[in-house]
Amino acid sequence: MAPVALGVLVSGRGSNLQSIIDAIESDRLDAHIAVVVSNKRDAFGLDRARSHGIKTVFLDPKSYKEQSNSREAYDRAVLDVLQVHGVELVILAGYMKIVTSVLIDAYEGRTMNIHPSLLPSFPGLAAQRQALDWGAKVSGCTVHFVTEGVDEGPIILQASVPILEDDTVETLSVRILEHEHRIYPEAIQLYAEGRLAIDGRRTRIVESVKREV
Ligand code: GRF
Repeated sequence: MAPVALGVLVSGRGSNLQSIIDAIESDRLDAHIAVVVSNKRDAFGLDRARSHGIKTVFLDPKSYKEQSNSREAYDRAVLDVLQVHGVELVILAGYMKIVTSVLIDAYEGRTMNIHPSLLPSFPGLAAQRQALDWGAKVSGCTVHFVTEGVDEGPIILQASVPILEDDTVETLSVRILEHEHRIYPEAIQLYAEGRLAIDGRRTRIVESVKREV
């Protein structure tokens, strides 16, 4: 199968983007990054992409503020960029903007996100803080397909991380992040091999099916 053309959306430091770049460069991931898009001009993820010769696009949400459906208008612009670059699979990697049906419908079953908890526990912001505040003994991270409900789509891969007695948000986040950097490239590779089949709420990991675009 041909390498998957990825479009990666970032808002910040882009360490997950880096893990995907590293996996591609070390032949662990059969993909190429067609474009990295950000809603933040100074996202460090954009610098990381540029330093690997990857095309980047900054789209300023302020330019769409005046329009009546500004979030949808913004996503139409994102969609244009993704389509112009021939993106097959959209990767949300620390993208701090809720995506609308404009993107989700166009890339149904072809948009992934990573979240720093074992979903469905602790969706939304500050997942590590939520886990600590609940006194949970275990947390982790989840790669899932994106649907309209925030952090609700079919789960692809998860990794668990024990919560230690003296953990802070920072120490727990660091340990979770190590697993994020492992399972996100793995999930994308499963997609690349045509091994992900969505079945209702579930993502089944199958022998191999032809990727349908
Ligand atoms: C990660 O913890 C990810 O799970 C969450 O946002 C953070 C992004 O980190 N969605 P980075 O920008 O990839 O370093």
